[in-house]
Amino acid sequence: MRFAGRVAVVTGAGGGMGEATARTLAAEGARVLAVDLAAKAPTAALPSGLRFIAADLRQPDAIKAVAAEARTAFGGIDILVNNAGVVGHEAVDGFGTEETWQQVMTVNVDAVWRLSREVVEDLKRAGRGRIINIGSVNSEFPSPVAPAYTTSKHAVYGLTKSLAMALGQFGITVNAVLPGATDTPMSRAFPDFEAWAAVGRSHSPLNRLATPQDIANAVAFLASDEAAFITGHGLYVDGGLHLSV
Ligand SMILES: NC(=O)c1ccc[n+]([C@@H]2O[C@H](COP(=O)([O-])OP(=O)(O)OC[C@H]3O[C@@H](n4cnc5c(N)ncnc54)[C@H](O)[C@@H]3O)[C@@H](O)[C@H]2O)c1
Repeated sequence: MRFAGRVAVVTGAGGGMGEATARTLAAEGARVLAVDLAAKAPTAALPSGLRFIAADLRQPDAIKAVAAEARTAFGGIDILVNNAGVVGHEAVDGFGTEETWQQVMTVNVDAVWRLSREVVEDLKRAGRGRIINIGSVNSEFPSPVAPAYTTSKHAVYGLTKSLAMALGQFGITVNAVLPGATDTPMSRAFPDFEAWAAVGRSHSPLNRLATPQDIANAVAFLASDEAAFITGHGLYVDGGLHLSV
């Protein structure tokens, strides 16, 4: 039980890799606050130690409510996983729309910064606090059809490295997981999912998409004591896709 006695907050945990992460941490002993939009609230009973809160992370007040709920329900926060994200497949000319840009930045960047700031005192008290941000292969590689998304994921990685430098003095590590093409509700909603998946597979030496559990396993490692001396790192979990993009 790697996470016995520890409390984790996982955003975007109503599905995909966030749900897999929340369940993995809970299965290894953590008490986990799973955060997502109300529409993603679980319909079945949750395993013990796993609690859901509906919050729209675009709203600063909702971010405060998430932190308050973790403190009230569990008494503190040791691990923050900033996983919630939206994709903006919008560009025909490299720009996209004002609306998409704002939406992607607000969820993928602003909320990560705000929630990290909101819980940092809890993480300091934890003594071995962890922040794990979900970036993307697009944290380092560009995309001509998703400029807002790519910019947001570069920003997440930049924030990860900056916070790692700032918070190391408090025993807090800050890392990013950089997934490649992953089979989740987000990617399944792409109108061209099959073509996208074929490209993803063909670029991976392992010739498959990532599963949400592949990502959850990497997050759990970075959250564990085994990763105590790793900070400011971006861990590709992409089946080697980054080697050929
Ligand atoms: N699927 C991929 O191929 C892929 C690849 C690289 C990175 N990622 C990143 O992984 C993370 C998880 O994505 P996923 O593929 O599991 O997608 P997903 O859509 O299945 O899960 C993302 C979750 O975030 C939630 N969310 C979105 N906006 C929110 C908001 N305003 N407030 C609260 N919750 C909100 C969604 O409701 C959803 O449940 C995202 O940051 C995504 O950008 C995904």
